[in-house]
Amino acid sequence: MKTIKMNDFFCGGGGFGLAAKEAGVEVVSAYDWDKYAVQMYKHNVNEHAQQMDITKMTWHDVKKADIWSFGFPCTDLSKARMDERKKLEGEGSGMFYEVMRLLDEVIENAPENKPDALLVENVYELIEVMDILEEEFNKRGYSINPALYNSKWWGLPQSRERWYVVGIDRKTGKEYQPIQQQENFIVKAKHFLEPKVDKKYVYDIDEYPYELFNSYAKEGGMIQVGKFHTNWLDIMKRIYLTEGILPTLHTCQGGHRQVKIVDPYTFRVRKGTPREYARAQGFPEDYEIIVSDSQAYKIFGNAVSVPLAAEHLRNVKMFLLSL
Ligand SMILES: C[S@@+](CC[C@H](N)C(=O)[O-])C[C@H]1O[C@@H](n2cnc3c(N)ncnc32)[C@H](O)[C@@H]1O
Repeated sequence: MKTIKMNDFFCGGGGFGLAAKEAGVEVVSAYDWDKYAVQMYKHNVNEHAQQMDITKMTWHDVKKADIWSFGFPCTDLSKARMDERKKLEGEGSGMFYEVMRLLDEVIENAPENKPDALLVENVYELIEVMDILEEEFNKRGYSINPALYNSKWWGLPQSRERWYVVGIDRKTGKEYQPIQQQENFIVKAKHFLEPKVDKKYVYDIDEYPYELFNSYAKEGGMIQVGKFHTNWLDIMKRIYLTEGILPTLHTCQGGHRQVKIVDPYTFRVRKGTPREYARAQGFPEDYEIIVSDSQAYKIFGNAVSVPLAAEHLRNVKMFLLSL
């Protein structure tokens, strides 16, 4: 049977890389400009990850592969951004066009290396620029198949809405069907916790005053049961019960942005740990965390949810094998 191969752009610490392994897709190259993400990728997923700035890459650097995955930066799309969102004109999310440029170079100089499939994952706000993605994909001969999924329906204790967009080269002559949505059962965060965590993750109520049961909200599987009385942003003050699921895990750079929970073993309020972030994104237990906590939160918060990405890759692989 033919081996389906993938290039993993903006590979981070390996969400798509691990998903490819699960789906039986061979990753032939992976690139990211972040030193720590590449270290984690190399250590845990695949030795040939390279630290590279995509703006400096040319078609010479790109290997022949059937699929190009690219979860490009959401920094200028996400509403988590406080200032003006420049969307695809921004420095970060504008990296989408760098992949289009590489694709153009490949089509012009090595057309036999043009991938049959493109796979994008990005935040909910991607909908605001989906018409641009469609135009860019169509220009290069690809159909576009977007669908919105939530990780909470894929065995993970986290509400994380993300678009998965599959582009299929029209020369394949076949219609692509995205994976089925599923909405049957959600797991509880308490089953993903570490039983004993270092005291650095636990909040001292005198230093960071909080109150439990001063607020209660149940929404989409999340159960918010308390709030900090601090001057943090409102979203950072929320405390969750692990009988429910966690809100979307973000990159948490700086401050107290990590998700806060009532530890069901000690009843103390604490931050989720990097290992719990990894679990809530579907990273396997043998994925070793070899970077600092702040780098680890960033890597896991940036990643695709592995089981969901794997399901997409399995589907794309079966589609390509059926041609
Ligand atoms: C949303 S994350 C992708 C995460 C990845 N898909 C995963 O599942 O782990 C975006 C990544 O783009 C990388 N990045 C941003 N600008 C870049 C550039 N100019 N060249 C290469 N990588 C870049 C960031 O370091 C970050 O790891």
